[in-house]
Amino acid sequence: MSGAYVFLGPPASGKGTQAKQLSEKLNIPHVALGDLLRDAVRRGTELGKQAKGFMEKGKLVPDDITISLAKERFSRDDCKGGFIVDGFPRTLKQAEAFEELLKSLGFELGAVIYINISMETAVSRLSGRRSCKRCGAVYHVTFNPSKKGDRCDRCGGELYQRHDDEEDVIKTRFSVYEKETLPLVKHFTSLGKLAEVSGEESVDKVQSAMLSSLKLS
Ligand code: AP5
Repeated sequence: MSGAYVFLGPPASGKGTQAKQLSEKLNIPHVALGDLLRDAVRRGTELGKQAKGFMEKGKLVPDDITISLAKERFSRDDCKGGFIVDGFPRTLKQAEAFEELLKSLGFELGAVIYINISMETAVSRLSGRRSCKRCGAVYHVTFNPSKKGDRCDRCGGELYQRHDDEEDVIKTRFSVYEKETLPLVKHFTSLGKLAEVSGEESVDKVQSAMLSSLKLS
C-alpha cells in the first residue's frame, strides 16, 4: 500500500523546506496546498478569486475549496506511489475528509510530522524568506541564502517575497493556526501517527531529527 506523509506546524516552521527534502529522498511528489492556492490566485481562476481575500488577511480558505483542491491533486497519476503534503489538513473537517480520501484511494497514512516553533521565530524567519517563481524552492536571506543572489540555485528562476509575509499578517496566521490547526496534534497523536520534531534548530538538524523519528536515517 502506498503511503502519504503529512507536514503539520505553524507558519515558518519549515514544513515546505523539510517536505521538499523528504520528497527527494523518497522520490514521491511534494504537494503544498499553499502553493496550489497561490497558483490559482496568480492564474485568476474562479477558485483563486474566492481564495485571494482570505489568504491576504492570513485567514484559512473555506474547507470546501481546499478539500476539493486536495482531492483533485492527490488523485493524479504522479501520486499513485505515495505523496508528501504540507499545509493540509489544517482543520478537523479537512482531517476527516483527508482520511476518507486516503481510504478511497487505497493509501496508508505513513506519518504526520509535526514541526513546532515559537511566534518570535516565525516572524524573524518570514521577513527573510524568498521563494522561486518558477520551481517553488524556498530560501532565507540569512539562514539559507541562494548562492545566485536574487536567482534560484536550482533553476535560475526569479526569487520573490510573499505578500502574506508581513508582521501583522504573520501574527494573524499564527493565531489562526493555534485555534484551527493545533487540535490536529491531539487528533493524530490519538491515531498513533504523530512524529514531533523541534523546528528551532538549523535546517540540517531538523532534517536529521525528522529522518530518525521516521526511522529513515
Ligand atoms: P502556506 O503557504 O501553507 O503557509 P504557512 O502554513 O503559513 O507556512 P509557510 O509556507 O509560511 O511556512 P513553512 O512551514 O512551509 O516554512 P518554510 O519551509 O517556507 O499557506 C498560506 C495561506 O494559504 C494560509 O494562510 C491560508 O490562507 C491558505 N491555506 C493553505 N492551506 C490551507 C488549508 N489547508 N486550508 C485553508 N487555507 C489554507 O520556511 C520559512 C522560512 O524559514 C524560509 O525562508 C526557510 O528558508 C526558513 N527556514 C526553514 N527552516 C529553517 C530552519 N530550521 N532554520 C532557519 N530557517 C529556516
